[in-house]
Parts: sequence; C-alpha cells; structure tokens
Amino acid sequence: MITSLDSDLDHILVTQEEIQKRIAQLGEDITEHYRGLGAEEVTLICITNGAIVFGADILRAIDMYVRLDCVRVSSYQKEDHPVTEPQIIDQIRLDIESRHVLLIDDILDTGKTLQKIVNILGEFNPLSLHTCVLLQKKGRIQTNYQADYTGFHIPNEFVVGYGLDFAERYRNLPHIGVLRPELQNPPEWQ
Ligand code: IMP
Ligand code: MG
Repeated sequence: MITSLDSDLDHILVTQEEIQKRIAQLGEDITEHYRGLGAEEVTLICITNGAIVFGADILRAIDMYVRLDCVRVSSYQKEDHPVTEPQIIDQIRLDIESRHVLLIDDILDTGKTLQKIVNILGEFNPLSLHTCVLLQKKGRIQTNYQADYTGFHIPNEFVVGYGLDFAERYRNLPHIGVLRPELQNPPEWQ
C-alpha cells in the first residue's frame, strides 16, 4: 500500500505483505509451543506504545485463549537514540502468577528494555516467560539478549512504521521503512 507519508522514507524495509505473512507463521509457532507445554491459555503483555500494532495482529494469530495487558515504558524522548535508562511508567493490571506469559515488543535494539521488563515480570512468578519482537537490529545487542521469537532481522538504521515512531509520528504506516536522516530531528515536532 502506498501512503502520503512514504515520501518521508528513505526506503521501505519490510512490506505490509511480508509483515502479515511472518505474523501468521509466528502465530502458528507460538500456538504450537504453548500447546506443547499443555497450556490452554497465554497472557500477552505488550510494551506500549510501540508494540500495540504488532500486538493487535499477533494476538489474533494465536489460536487459543489469550489474555492481554500492557506495560508502558519510556526511554526515548524526541531523539532517535535512548537518552535515559528504560523506565516503567505504567504497570500491568493482570495477575500473572503461575501463568504462561509472552512479552511483546516492536524492536530489540540494545536489548535493555526487554531485559529490564523480563526481570520485573519475573518477580511476579509466572509459570513461563517468553519474549517476542517484530524486529531485531543486527549488530546492536549490547547485552547479548535474544528474544524467543523474532519477526525480522534488520540493519542498524532508524526505522518507523507499523507501530514504530519518531516523535510519536509514523506509527500508522502499514509497512516499516527507514526515516530520511534529515527528518530525524525536525525542531517543530514536540
Ligand atoms: P532497546 O532497549 O535499546 O532494545 O530499545 C528498544 C526500544 O527502543 C523499542 O521498544 C523502541 O520503542 C525503541 N526503538 C529502538 N530502535 C528504534 C527504531 O529504529 N525506531 C523506532 N523506535 C526504536
Ligand atoms: Mg518508541
């Protein structure tokens, strides 16, 4: 699909069709994994805002009971790189003790966000705790952290679309693209 925001992109990295195909496969893999554990239900925890678009699609690709909750984390402000350590701004509401939990994020960059949330959720004593990210940046892992499920491995470039933002814009793009470098710090965007 062509959108009016595409002219802000240097190029498209992952198309809408590629995303949807990969999500269907991930949904099957995840369903099979939990069925293999004898589970009838999984609790998805999405890291907002970035994971809400991916989360909305992946939850419908899982063929069993799914409970949904979100955790809100902030580490990026208006920059295209993390300016502070990830902070939890809003905690989950569901009880996850003795539940199978799948943590969903949009992108694994340094891995700090996912690792920190995994540690925090682990304190609630889930029965199992796995992670699923749509994207992983190649060569950027500072912590050696790997997600259990990864949609696509991408180069170390700043990407937007399909939930990923720059200054809260571009989340509505149906595909994932590299933002043109000269647009990465427009002073008028608050
Ligand atoms: P990490 O803690 O360095 O792994 O950062 C992960 C978080 O940073 C993700 O949840 C995203 O919100 C954000 N992020 C990292 N890389 C990008 C990018 O290329 N575009 C948009 N957001 C990004
Ligand atoms: Mg973000």
